[in-house]
Amino acid sequence: MKHLIAPSILSADFGNLQRDIEMINASAADWFHVDVMDGVFVPNISFGFPVMKAVAEHAKKPLDVHLMIVQPERYIEQFADAGASMITVHYEACVHLHRTIQSIHNAGCKASVALNPHTPVALLKDILGDLDMVLIMSVNPGFGGQTFIPNTFSKVEELKRLASTLQPDLLIEVDGGVGVQNIQELAIAGVDVFVAGNAIFAAPSPAEMIAKMKQLDPNQSIVA
Ligand code: DX5
Ligand code: ZN
Repeated sequence: MKHLIAPSILSADFGNLQRDIEMINASAADWFHVDVMDGVFVPNISFGFPVMKAVAEHAKKPLDVHLMIVQPERYIEQFADAGASMITVHYEACVHLHRTIQSIHNAGCKASVALNPHTPVALLKDILGDLDMVLIMSVNPGFGGQTFIPNTFSKVEELKRLASTLQPDLLIEVDGGVGVQNIQELAIAGVDVFVAGNAIFAAPSPAEMIAKMKQLDPNQSIVA
């Protein structure tokens, strides 16, 4: 499968959000990555339903919604109604993870679980068969522009091995500190979906940066 690029609108210019959404619409990007933070699960607050609905109104690509909130099960229906295609909840935030995954599917969305950097991949063994995607956090969640944690590689490789028997169609996503410097090596390790905020929006031409990330091919030599 060709890898997917999901620009994180957390790094967009909120004063010109529609402009940045149109840029992503016109670019080689595949999804919009939407980071929702509650100031409790993570030490930052981003935005909620009104902003997400505004994004959904203009976005012409699927919304990949990453919930960094406690008790996400309380809001699944509302995020589905607000336009989510994929909903990611954190393993660390869900007491009844299986039930939450069921309610995401019942709401008509794809379901994904995120793991913080310290959470072992092996904990997903009994839920993997119910998931469409796993998000491996490659920074501690809460902020854009942080440094990639190298241990992510072994987690991706372990998840790939686990998924090959338990859920061969599983997508593996990485989020945090991703850019042209590591995207190719991550693709070789087994990553399908790349979230990038700072690498895209701090680039002189975000659209060109997206195109560059999309062109990287694990079978070709590194062009970064
Ligand atoms: C971090 C968020 C990320 C963030 C990534 O908690 O989940 O999606 O926007 O930003 P970069 O690519 O700048 O590390
Ligand atoms: Zn995210």
